Amino acid sequence: MKISLGAKAFAYPTPVFVIGSYDEKGKANAMVAAWGGICSSDPVCITVSVREARQTYKNICLKKAFTVSIPNEDNLKEADYFGIYSGKNTDKFAETGLTPIKSDLVDAPYIKEFPLIIECKLIKTVELGVHTQFIGEVVDIKCDREVTGDNGLPEIEKVRPVTYDPVLKRYYGIGRYLGKAFSIGKKD
Ligand SMILES: Cc1cc2nc3c(=O)[nH]c(=O)nc-3n(C[C@H](O)[C@H](O)[C@H](O)COP(=O)(O)O)c2cc1C
Repeated sequence: MKISLGAKAFAYPTPVFVIGSYDEKGKANAMVAAWGGICSSDPVCITVSVREARQTYKNICLKKAFTVSIPNEDNLKEADYFGIYSGKNTDKFAETGLTPIKSDLVDAPYIKEFPLIIECKLIKTVELGVHTQFIGEVVDIKCDREVTGDNGLPEIEKVRPVTYDPVLKRYYGIGRYLGKAFSIGKKD
């Protein structure tokens, strides 16, 4: 027997994306977004939903670009900081001691210390209500060599990303390996 909880923003798992952007003076900013994910394979696109009140909203509209830096478990405190304070009245990079690196492909910074980076140019903006969905075409993925496996691709156990529980507002690490996709469901 299921119980009804009403219309709520409950879905698992959500990412902990740290969006990098520049303001009109070229000041680097970063904010956390859990409302986001992959939304197209060809062209490769990701989406992030941002409230108009955020400094990041202004920056993405202005520069038509953003990055997503994926934190690992070691960077979680800094990532949470990026989700509490606003770049409107804080220099979040100076406060955390993290390093903004200017993307050579889009007009946005990414975070040097985070293991996996997604660089995006804005291709579509969808007004949804309190959130605006920014759809970015992925122009490059960058990752630390230390998080790659034998095939040169990032391995999730080495990246150690974090997921956010929007119900109880908590962070979790990733769980154990359960099986191969497009495989364990096959009928023989
Ligand atoms: C775990 C977590 C998830 C968040 N997800 C979002 C989100 O998806 N969209 C959004 O607009 N704000 C989200 N926020 C809030 C912003 O990160 C926060 O308001 C931030 O201070 C905005 O920074 P800015 O004004 O420098 O852009 C989230 C915060 C946390 C801690």
